[in-house]
Amino acid sequence: MSPKNDKNDKREAKYADLDEGTKLARPIEHQHAREIQPYGKIAQLPIALDEVVCSKSVENLNQVLADTITLRDMYKKHHWQVAGHTFYQLHLLFDKHYGEQNELVDDIAERIQSLGGISIAMAPDVAETTIIPRPPRGREEVPVQLSRLLEAHEFILKEVRTMARQAADAGDDGTNDLLVSQVLRTNELQVWFLAEHLVDVPVVRAQAKAAGSGR
Ligand SMILES: [Fe+2]
Repeated sequence: MSPKNDKNDKREAKYADLDEGTKLARPIEHQHAREIQPYGKIAQLPIALDEVVCSKSVENLNQVLADTITLRDMYKKHHWQVAGHTFYQLHLLFDKHYGEQNELVDDIAERIQSLGGISIAMAPDVAETTIIPRPPRGREEVPVQLSRLLEAHEFILKEVRTMARQAADAGDDGTNDLLVSQVLRTNELQVWFLAEHLVDVPVVRAQAKAAGSGR
């Protein structure tokens, strides 16, 4: 007797004294089977796009997805760990950007599925795929947090510009539109909001004029 049949028999024995109606209401747990689509393969959908084109777009989008998940999670880390006199505004700003990146994550992942691909989802797969350097577990100063976020945004902006052009050249206008209209524009705007916090202007007293500067 195979171990699988043995398990089924034990289950049957366990519920033997239940009547038929009750047996039907029992959830069937611990089910396992092979995957219906292996990672990296395309289940062609009728969207008038060649499988080769879909495959390349899916590969690129999974890279952007891994990097966007990483950036999104870095925002939450910094939302929790931020310290100092700008705590409140940055605590709120980091969470706003987290929410916007989270929407991008869903849009990118669903674009991958629409192309017949499989989007990566789980943390270990994201960690293996992302090109964004891993931050330490500990807490860092605000300028370091901001610098890390800006660096992560720039990794994404650089790859997205290249991938958007590739998608347009291949005729995948939907992917091009997602990358330009949503991913690129959201990241550029968030960079502006972060970068202005690193401009070293006086908080209370204007800087003294240099001697001989006139007026
Ligand atoms: Fe929160």
